[in-house]
Amino acid sequence: MESNRIAWETASRKHVDEYDELLDEARTRSALSPCELELLRPLLADSPAVVHLQSGHGLDDIALVAEGARSVVGVDFSSVAATAAQRRADELGVNCRYVVAELPGAPLRDGCADLVYTGKGALIWMPDLDAWAADVARLARPGGHLFVHEAHPMVPLWTWDEDEPRIRPDRGYFERSHVNDTFPANGAVEWQTTLAGIITAVLGAGLELRHVAEHPEPFWRWGDLDAAAWRGQLPNTFTLLARKPSWGTGPTGPVPWCRAGRSGRWGTSAA
Ligand SMILES: C[S@@+](CC[C@H](N)C(=O)[O-])C[C@H]1O[C@@H](n2cnc3c(N)ncnc32)[C@H](O)[C@@H]1O
Repeated sequence: MESNRIAWETASRKHVDEYDELLDEARTRSALSPCELELLRPLLADSPAVVHLQSGHGLDDIALVAEGARSVVGVDFSSVAATAAQRRADELGVNCRYVVAELPGAPLRDGCADLVYTGKGALIWMPDLDAWAADVARLARPGGHLFVHEAHPMVPLWTWDEDEPRIRPDRGYFERSHVNDTFPANGAVEWQTTLAGIITAVLGAGLELRHVAEHPEPFWRWGDLDAAAWRGQLPNTFTLLARKPSWGTGPTGPVPWCRAGRSGRWGTSAA
């Protein structure tokens, strides 16, 4: 965790070095993609108080407020990222506040969020998704929502070949982690959780699943690269919407039969 934090402090210098470009981007176009807006618009119509876990450069937050959020509190363990995001939001006069803290375990009060928003390269940094989901469920008010737009767990398997899509022989869908060997997280250990594992963690925290969809478009592309894996044949992202029951259920805990064998979460095989 500490080496990841130091790596992110360094990587987040980009948000400072490219401050003006990002400010211009925040002013001129929404960071939210059409598949996000389709699900978020009905929720944003109620002017929710949003908590953004792993808020990074904060461009999503400016877009969330532009679409109707009353406020956004971003939480990120990179003080460089949070400081740049705060400066940008203040300069644009947008109601966003940033808290520097390690997750899970956001230093925010229980039930403070109408909507917990996260994704776009967030879950791969969480080694324990059960703990992450429990923190989400604690932050959401009864009747509040969790929204995730994230890289599909199959993505580490796709090559970036431009002629045709291929599967990397050195990676496995059911592995617990892999070492990133491309930009921007080169050298970092990324955690893997299957789509079933992510859903199971959300359900185990007592949240009700409202929507899960897999999408062919990646949320991010590297420069001019046009990988064949991004051209519509394969899943590259997913969206998930869950709701905390208004009658306030407690966590159900792990669902044992979902965890057995290779269909379960990483590290929890029947052995
Ligand atoms: C790829 S960025 C995604 C952030 C955001 N969605 C965006 O688009 O800018 C991942 C962020 O997670 C943060 N992060 C990683 N692990 C964390 C942890 N354990 N606690 C808090 N923040 C973390 C990093 O500092 C980084 O800003």
